[in-house]
Amino acid sequence: MTNQIAPVARPKVLVVDDIAANRELLEGHLDDLGYRVLQAKDGIEALEAVAAEEPDLILLDIDMPRLDGIAVCEQLKAHPLRRLIPIVILTASNDRDTKLRGIAAGADDYLSKPFDPKELLIRTKVLLRQRALNERLDATEGVLHALARAVEARDRHTIHHAERVGRYAEAIGAARGLTAEDCELLYQGGVLHDLGKIAIPDAILLKPGPLTTAEFTKMRSHSVEGERICLSLRSVAHYLPIIRHHHERVDGAGYPDHLAGADIPIGARITAIADSWDAMVSDRPYRAGLAEDEALRRLRQGSGTQWDAGLAHVFIDLLDGGLMQRVTRTQLAAIA
Ligand SMILES: [Fe+2]
Ligand SMILES: [Fe+2]
Repeated sequence: MTNQIAPVARPKVLVVDDIAANRELLEGHLDDLGYRVLQAKDGIEALEAVAAEEPDLILLDIDMPRLDGIAVCEQLKAHPLRRLIPIVILTASNDRDTKLRGIAAGADDYLSKPFDPKELLIRTKVLLRQRALNERLDATEGVLHALARAVEARDRHTIHHAERVGRYAEAIGAARGLTAEDCELLYQGGVLHDLGKIAIPDAILLKPGPLTTAEFTKMRSHSVEGERICLSLRSVAHYLPIIRHHHERVDGAGYPDHLAGADIPIGARITAIADSWDAMVSDRPYRAGLAEDEALRRLRQGSGTQWDAGLAHVFIDLLDGGLMQRVTRTQLAAIA
């Protein structure tokens, strides 16, 4: 019996080099350092090896037949999950140009040939620790998403609501020219916006009739509850304003803080539109969903009072361009 909760696995390092002698040399060093070594002799083999068994670190030569190291690096860094695998470029010590091309392609570090075993040890250790932290961060987000799905699972009326809100919010952000990172945040924030409903009892959340004043107050606490749940999680700090403020109104009549106009963080202003739209056109326990024409009329009517007029305008243009059909279609495809 061991005293550890999780067994300590030997980190897997993939060595990619077209020269067998270089691979063997590195394998010898890495083996001494306690790593498990996988080998590939060109870029194609490297991508195949990563697909078959994800390594914790890649040591990557640049000049190789079939597919060179720069192309491998670019492909892996463009992949949503594999981009977290640290990549170390292997170069001749005087080859500044290759180092720079490697860094431009997203490499995390470089190592000069001939290798100094001590340097190899320190660089691999640092990157592997970084990798472990990234994985934990990833896991935190995974847990939150699971919680968001748990909220939805309680109420068949809101199934996939959060996912759609995320997609709408992301589309508004892109149309407004926000960066790819901000759009990603809008998506994540959209998925998590109603997380606080986990703290609302079924008797209120699923009540088929109108809520009493006390029940309504409780229901409204979900935005603050959601923020409270996520407060200690550093990795979601950027979404907190979306979670807390997605029910604010630009005229100041929303909750929880009665913020008005541009005082409402832009992510929350965007999410408010995405959320309201999806709520209007979906069935709820106490009413059927509105027809699109009617929802659109209300959106126009409330723009400038409930919602940011400029952002509502952007959203209406996106709806005209078929956004709603696209979002629901991708969602159906994902479920099938
Ligand atoms: Fe909400
Ligand atoms: Fe919502």
